[in-house]
Amino acid sequence: MKQICALLAVCASVSTSAADPEVQDFGKTKDGTAVQLYTLKNEKGLTAKVMARGATLVELHVPGKNGKSEDVILGWDSVAGYESEDNQYFGCTTGRVCNRIAKGKFSIGGKDYTVATNDGPNHLHGGVERSLDKVVWDAKAYSNDKGQGVRFKYTSPDGEEGYPGNLKCQVVYFLAKNANRISISYKATTDQPTPVNLTNHAYFNLAGAGSDTVLDHVLTLNADKYTPADDTLIPTGKIEPVAGTPLDFTKPKRIGARIEKLTDTSALGYDHNFVLNAKQDDSKPYNHAATLLHKASGRRLRIMTKEPGIQFYSGNFLKGQQGKNGKTYAHRSAVCLETQHYPDSVNQPNFPSIILKPDQEYQTSTLLIFGVSGQK
Ligand code: GLA
Repeated sequence: MKQICALLAVCASVSTSAADPEVQDFGKTKDGTAVQLYTLKNEKGLTAKVMARGATLVELHVPGKNGKSEDVILGWDSVAGYESEDNQYFGCTTGRVCNRIAKGKFSIGGKDYTVATNDGPNHLHGGVERSLDKVVWDAKAYSNDKGQGVRFKYTSPDGEEGYPGNLKCQVVYFLAKNANRISISYKATTDQPTPVNLTNHAYFNLAGAGSDTVLDHVLTLNADKYTPADDTLIPTGKIEPVAGTPLDFTKPKRIGARIEKLTDTSALGYDHNFVLNAKQDDSKPYNHAATLLHKASGRRLRIMTKEPGIQFYSGNFLKGQQGKNGKTYAHRSAVCLETQHYPDSVNQPNFPSIILKPDQEYQTSTLLIFGVSGQK
């Protein structure tokens, strides 16, 4: 017995694996599918919760400079909230093609396709009934010596939401054990050429979800250029410099400083695609895309990716809905920083292509790195 105890003690001391994520019920969808919520935790005080409907980030508790944690993303207390009219893609995986497709039309190899128009005249975020945010994905929680993760898988059948090809998708959320870093990694394969552009649609307020505004947050974007758009937010096809416009976030700027000066959009605030600066050093797996800072709490978020673009949306359509813990989500009370290929890429020959072919694998990932200003 003594020997067994000694052996167990040795094993416990050398084992560096994190425990598997906790699992709890998160309610049922309208059609009766049970959905579970997975809790990822690390040694540095970060807690993330993810669920299988829409492979969605539900909660993200991040410490500030006084050591106090706040949940910094918008969301709902159960799956029913995510199915309600008030949900605006909170925290979900967005696709098959995030952002807009002009008039819901595109063609591949001479064949025309029509997808739903659910944003004025255009297609938005993958469709209406069975876009990737609305389906329940298979989930598998795991842990290893680097941290904890959940792997979500979903196969979107040929023709779903009008898109060609059976698309096998995977999204993995992984929280590092000893750093406040979450990676969101995407993979997809297809059996027919098809457009794919996946992102995460988390809404951040680093003061805590439900705080009045994000206009006091300071944003830096590693983008010298953007894609000007028409008044339905479809790019004109041009790529223009941000210099001299309210879109210049190449140096840290308060989000509210110039928001009222925006004249090029009917979007009531920032809702623009920025062209991320490509780095000379291509050996690195990630480039810096954005840094968001809330000075009062000290919370800072750095976003890294190899995607060519980022949609910066200043929560203009938030309308005072009541989310988690009854908190109110007011107009411009959160920002989305959606790493992605440019909007309407499928119709813009001079934008990087989003067509995935059967012999290829779509692979991309985004890092969310949290810190406290003034601390390493
Ligand atoms: C994206 C779009 C916005 C809006 C939100 C969801 O960020 O660019 O225009 O549709 O999603 O409300």
